Amino acid sequence: MEDLSAICKPGDIWFSDQQLDLVIQSTIMTAHILQGKKILITAGPTQEAIDPVRYISNHSSGKMGYAIAEKLLEQGARVFLVSGPVNMKLEHRNLKLVKVKSANEMYLACCHFFEEVDIAVFAAAVADYRPDKIADQKIKKDESSFTIRMVKNIDIAYEFGKVKTERQISVGFALETNDELKHAIGKLAKKNFDMVVLNSMNDSNATFGFDTNRITIIKNDLSQRDFPLKTKKEVAGDIVQEITETANRNSYCDDVSVLEYETMYF
Ligand code: CTP
Repeated sequence: MEDLSAICKPGDIWFSDQQLDLVIQSTIMTAHILQGKKILITAGPTQEAIDPVRYISNHSSGKMGYAIAEKLLEQGARVFLVSGPVNMKLEHRNLKLVKVKSANEMYLACCHFFEEVDIAVFAAAVADYRPDKIADQKIKKDESSFTIRMVKNIDIAYEFGKVKTERQISVGFALETNDELKHAIGKLAKKNFDMVVLNSMNDSNATFGFDTNRITIIKNDLSQRDFPLKTKKEVAGDIVQEITETANRNSYCDDVSVLEYETMYF
């Protein structure tokens, strides 16, 4: 039989059999925590019509939201993806994809699902303003200049933040160019997010149009975690992992508190 001191080095941590069982159980639960969970995701840009042929929009590709949806589906979740106009395809038996154009349409689509979902991920780049009036006919270039009056759009994440229940988890995004942390924490509080994903604009290969992103995840206990530059698919994996941990903590914190990690050092 092998000498224990040959296998174990000073500083190694040991658990009792009962503790080990609980650790294994908790790990298995974490792996399956998203199984069957209903998750709402908003993705892509919105288009705000000016006239029948023109609109105001932004550069969002929808890649991040779709990558998150894909990862969540891999974990066995049922996903309701409310998507603005993008060149992305995603099919899965557990996916319900609703295509919308404007912020108002996106909000109305989300209203159908929000009450029944366990988790909501607000990854869409919703236009903050829309033209006050949509012209019935194509606007002709008769004038040398013209002005479009813009009015504020509904803030989808904020509205659902007001009615979110204790059992629901919501995740938001913050794309910032300055005072990044301050603004991200402000959004976390204002929109009642459980976590906010801060997208850095300080990396030339990150955000709009690129396949890579560099993020910091800030949770509502203000803990924060920086991630290196990664592909959007890898970033989606990191975000889903953080969501899984939060869901696991919410569901099983009572069980886990039983685990007193009495460590034995020798
Ligand atoms: N969001 C939303 N509806 C809006 C605007 C934003 O649901 N009308 C969500 C986004 O999907 C994101 C979060 O709110 O998860 C933050 O979006 P962002 O555009 O960074 O912030 P804003 O609240 O719009 O603030 P600002 O543009 O002034 O930075």
